[in-house]
Amino acid sequence: MTAILGIETSCDETAAAVVRDGREVIAHVVASQHDLHAKYRGVVPEIASRAHLERIGPVIEEALHNAGLGFDQIDAVAVGNRPGLIGSLIVGVSAAKAIAWAAGKPLIGVDHVQAHLHAASLYFATSGVGGSGVGRPPEPPPPPQFPALGLVVSGGHTALYRVDAPSQIHRLGATIDDAVGEAYDKAAVILQLPYPGGPHLDRLAAQGDPTAHRFPRSLLEPGSLDFSFSGLKTALLYAVRGHPQGRGDHARFEHSAAELTDRQRADLAASFQAAAVDMLILKIERALDLLFAGATPARSLIIGGGVSANSLLRARAVELGLRRRIDVHLPAMAFCLDNAAMIAGLAHESFLLQRFDDLHLPAVATTAF
Ligand code: KG4
Ligand code: ZN
Repeated sequence: MTAILGIETSCDETAAAVVRDGREVIAHVVASQHDLHAKYRGVVPEIASRAHLERIGPVIEEALHNAGLGFDQIDAVAVGNRPGLIGSLIVGVSAAKAIAWAAGKPLIGVDHVQAHLHAASLYFATSGVGGSGVGRPPEPPPPPQFPALGLVVSGGHTALYRVDAPSQIHRLGATIDDAVGEAYDKAAVILQLPYPGGPHLDRLAAQGDPTAHRFPRSLLEPGSLDFSFSGLKTALLYAVRGHPQGRGDHARFEHSAAELTDRQRADLAASFQAAAVDMLILKIERALDLLFAGATPARSLIIGGGVSANSLLRARAVELGLRRRIDVHLPAMAFCLDNAAMIAGLAHESFLLQRFDDLHLPAVATTAF
């Protein structure tokens, strides 16, 4: 039995968790900074790194306290060391190094994007879990079968992967402009919804008519597994504000979003959501057709990242799984958004292979995947 302490500070969540044997979460603490960034309607890197610095100590202490373990009882320290905001990553990486050195424990650097694909395999221990965001599924989910098709949908990334094993992934395609979560956040700004926009837009969409507006579904050239969301965002902007006179910062629009009725706002949100999720589902289907129709068809579909919390994406993914007879693995709601359990969980793979990092482990802004 192993217990790995995970640390995550890549963006605006300061998180620590303890995970047993790669899947069983015995502590899960997330300190969100949404309140600090709300008035800027986006993450301000300097504010994020300062807040991580203030919170990282108490967050790690709380996770260990909830797990009922001391530093001497953990088997390794794992940290998301890439990708992310460099000033934010450095805080987590430095904390992890300090603990590894002081407690004499192995250090494991984990790729945040890859870890999102592990989130669907996590489940809460039936006892002893404390911390924020607990939404306990009743049973441990069956682990995914490989090879699998993986989709990461977050605020910073939107990409499809062939997953041969939890730590063996190959990118098949990615967004050529906005990430889908970023498109949601920008759409929410256009509709004047509160920050952070994705979950608010999702909730509002449930009250609207998804056929009210026919927004574009950009599929790129036939066979492409890349994504593009900027056309959808612009189509929403024009539907809300009319066509602009002039360009860039000097553009003047015919209407303001403040003129929208509640009904119109909900219809726009529902139509945006229908188009965004259609694009994701269509690309999943294309990847299943193109890559896995041959000798090694995909045995599972794994989805991870903040947008995997989206109600329509979850429903459409389950429907696709039934239709195409493929197991669909979605994270429990607590593990969709950035968290440290996915970091500690994936690190177990490296632990089993005794693949450790030394104190030179760098914080890196870009993903290796
Ligand atoms: O994975 P995550 O916490 O951070 C990154 O690694 O980027 O994802 C955050 C993103 C944000 O863009 C947020 O608006 C989006 O996930 N998000 C959602 C929903 N919940 C979070 N987007 C659509 N529907 C949701 N329910
Ligand atoms: Zn993330």
